[in-house]
Amino acid sequence: MIKILVIHGPNLNLLGKREPQIYGRVTLARINRILQGAAKKRGVALVIKQSNVEGRIVDLIQQAKKNKFQGLLINPAAYTHTSVALRDAIAACGLTTVEVHLSNIYSREEFRHKSLVSPVAKGTIMGFGAKSYLLGLEALVDLIEAR
Ligand code: DQA
Repeated sequence: MIKILVIHGPNLNLLGKREPQIYGRVTLARINRILQGAAKKRGVALVIKQSNVEGRIVDLIQQAKKNKFQGLLINPAAYTHTSVALRDAIAACGLTTVEVHLSNIYSREEFRHKSLVSPVAKGTIMGFGAKSYLLGLEALVDLIEAR
């Protein structure tokens, strides 16, 4: 069975309450339920983690291969724009990686216009709110199945 690791980065635990005009009112728990439902339909196993700690996310990515994951679906949140460590971990991990964002980072402040993660991801989906995750998961499963 295909195993996919889903990582939500910093502050995404606050979804629903956090800047709802940008991120919507859907909670992280709801996004996770939707993802688990979609994974079940596709016959894949998901393990979902959220962390506000950069090093913790790096550790999760480093351990993913050993833990038999084939794919990584990640919203690196603010670390998208700052974390060389996260970028390097993804480059090293050998997992097919899809980056997602709720918002369109290019329609926002200039400091969000650069993603350090995009160059090491297979693709990026952004701007569709919670649906970005669902689209990202579908694309990731398609990629892994096509290998
Ligand atoms: C985000 C966009 C980032 O710029 C921001 O720091 C986030 C969320 C998004 O999903 O739209 O925390 O990754």
